[in-house]
Parts: sequence; C-alpha cells; structure tokens
Amino acid sequence: MVKITVVKTTAPRTRPDQNKLGFGRHFTDHMFIMDYTEGKGWHDARIVPYGPLEMEPACAVLHYGQAVFEGMKAYKSQDGRILLFRPEQNMARLNRSNARLSIPQFDEEFVLEALKQLVLLDRDWIPEAPGTALYLRPFVIGTDNVLGVRASSTYKLMIILSPVGAYYEEGLNPVSIWVEPHYVRAVRGGTGYAKAAGNYAGSLLAQKNAQAKGYSQVLWLDGLERKYVEEVGAMNVFFNIDGELITPDLGDSVLPGITRDSVLQLLKSWNIPAAERRLSVEEIFQAHADGRLVEAFGCGTAAVISPIGKLGWGERDIVINEGRIGEISQRLYDTMTGIQTGRLEDPFGWTVEVEG
Ligand code: PLP
Ligand code: COI
Repeated sequence: MVKITVVKTTAPRTRPDQNKLGFGRHFTDHMFIMDYTEGKGWHDARIVPYGPLEMEPACAVLHYGQAVFEGMKAYKSQDGRILLFRPEQNMARLNRSNARLSIPQFDEEFVLEALKQLVLLDRDWIPEAPGTALYLRPFVIGTDNVLGVRASSTYKLMIILSPVGAYYEEGLNPVSIWVEPHYVRAVRGGTGYAKAAGNYAGSLLAQKNAQAKGYSQVLWLDGLERKYVEEVGAMNVFFNIDGELITPDLGDSVLPGITRDSVLQLLKSWNIPAAERRLSVEEIFQAHADGRLVEAFGCGTAAVISPIGKLGWGERDIVINEGRIGEISQRLYDTMTGIQTGRLEDPFGWTVEVEG
C-alpha cells in the first residue's frame, strides 16, 4: 500500500454554528491530494492543511473543463461511530467518470482508505444536529499547462470535507419543479452518466430561468425528443403512479445515483412495485388528470429525498399530493437517514464504519 504523508494544521479553523451550516460553505482543517504524472502513475499521496492551490493561468482544467467529482456523506451515530454510506460505489463511479473524461484510473481501495484517514483526522468536524452531515467531495482535475485541446498528462485527485445542513432551503418540504422545454442536461453519447463538472455548468441557465419563474429546480427531459423525463435538478427522480414507483431507466444520459439504487432496493424489500422505464411528461400529466399520480420525489446524496409538490409544464401547473410529502417518500427518507446515521439496523450492509 502506498504511504500517505500527513502534515497537520498549526492553525485550526473555527467551527461553524451547527444550526446555520447551509450547504458546502465551510471546510475542515485538512484535505487530501495525490498527483498523477504520465509514466509515473499516481504518486505523492498526502493529507495537508486545507488551503489554496497554486496553478498557472494556462492550467488545462480552467479552459476545457477536464474535471470530475463525487459527493458522499459521513455521519456520526448516537453512540459515536463514524459511518459512510456505500462509499465503494462512489469510488467506482469516480473511476467511470474518469474513464469518460480520459482521466487515468486510480486504485479505489487506496483512495477510500485515504478518505477514511482524512475523515478520522477531521472527525470533530462531523456535525451531530439532526439533518446535518459531513459532506465529502473527492474530485479530479487535469493540470497540464498547455492550451492544445487534448487529455492532460498530469492530474490532481483531491478530497475536501464540508459540514453541511439541508441542501434545499425547503428541507423535506415539497419543492416546485419546472419542466424545462428547451435546454437539455445530457444527450445520448454525451457525458450525462459521468459526474463531469461541465454537466453542471451547462445546467445553470435553465436552473436560473426556472427560479425566475418561481420554481426551485428543473425537470430535465431527454435530449432527442424532449418528451421523456430524465432527472430533476441534480437528482434522480421517482413518480408514484397508482402505487407503482417509476424512475427513468439508465441510459448514458442519466447519472446512476447511489440513492436511486438504494431506493430501488428498499422498495423491493418492502414489496412495493417499482419500474425502471421511459416515462413521458405527457404520461405524468395524464396520470394526474386521472387522479392516479400519488406522489413524486427527487433523490440524491445531498437532499436524500426531496418531495415534489408542484410541477409546471408550459401553461400547465399541477399540485401533487396536495403539496404534502407522500407516504412512501417519508418512509424512504426515514429509513435511508436511519440506516445512514446508524439509528436503524442495516440489513443491506450499506454502511461502512471508519475506525481509528
Ligand atoms: N443526478 C445528478 C445529476 C447528480 O449530480 C446526483 C448527485 O450526485 C444524483 C443524480 C444523485 O446521485 P447520488 O444518489 O449518487 O448522490
Ligand atoms: C447530490 O448529492 O444529490 C448532488 O446532486 C450534489 C450536488 C451538490 C452536485
């Protein structure tokens, strides 16, 4: 195993108020960095004080966006254990994102080990107030100082940590969603299934437009016909039609969410019918008109479950479940967060304890 050198901070930062964290605004005392050089591979794994990076203005990532990232959480259980949720899945997805962006593969076990060491070192930063967690952000950037459009020959893989509260101001209260008729997040053959930084840059304009109309997020449609539902904001999405939980199937334009997969496994264990298939907006609005649209929610690491209370599509606006959180959404939220925080038993073996 490659050794990780550790340089501890001599100037610990002030901890933020646990009840006013927001999302991703505060960072812990340390970060992990590892470099890649062609011919040499990944090297110089180190944990160092959190601080600025030095880079030249020519740095490749600043120009052509060769960057990928992950998002995961560490929780402190009531009996003081530190728990990660299916972290090996994030490592595997980061390597799949790397592959799509022509970034070299890394040793998943080693980076997970580095992540655990970092979390352990900054363990006092894990907030304990309900609904809070330590958000873990691994990411990789191309660092060549060359303006030619080509894959970088040098990279940095880094991990930073941020104590967070709710991702949406609404928390578990249902959000209103705008069906984006024009802009798309991803297309067949594109980078939608990867957590590529550029996917998020491309989503900002539609997000801003939706907010100007009074909605909080965008419902993305497929890039070819703009008829079929793909994702909601930066989350996967489920619709409960007549008691069946339907989520878009995974093509290469949908991010394979770890929360999505966990929701599907939970539904199966509860004998609740679920389907992964193409779902058109028309079908959703028709189901609502027929009184068969029971509930809808987005799901992802940041918000866990985010109920959808209202859906706007052109001139049409529908209210789902009278704008209240649905029964299955609530049950999923309680069970997911229960398992993640160690409050509930974990029959799936999803949680991984970080032991010092
Ligand atoms: N879809 C997009 C575009 C995302 O950015 C995320 C968040 O990571 C998700 C879905 C949900 O994925 P996960 O459940 O793995 O967090
Ligand atoms: C998620 O974790 O659900 C996200 O979408 C993360 C976001 C900050 C990109």
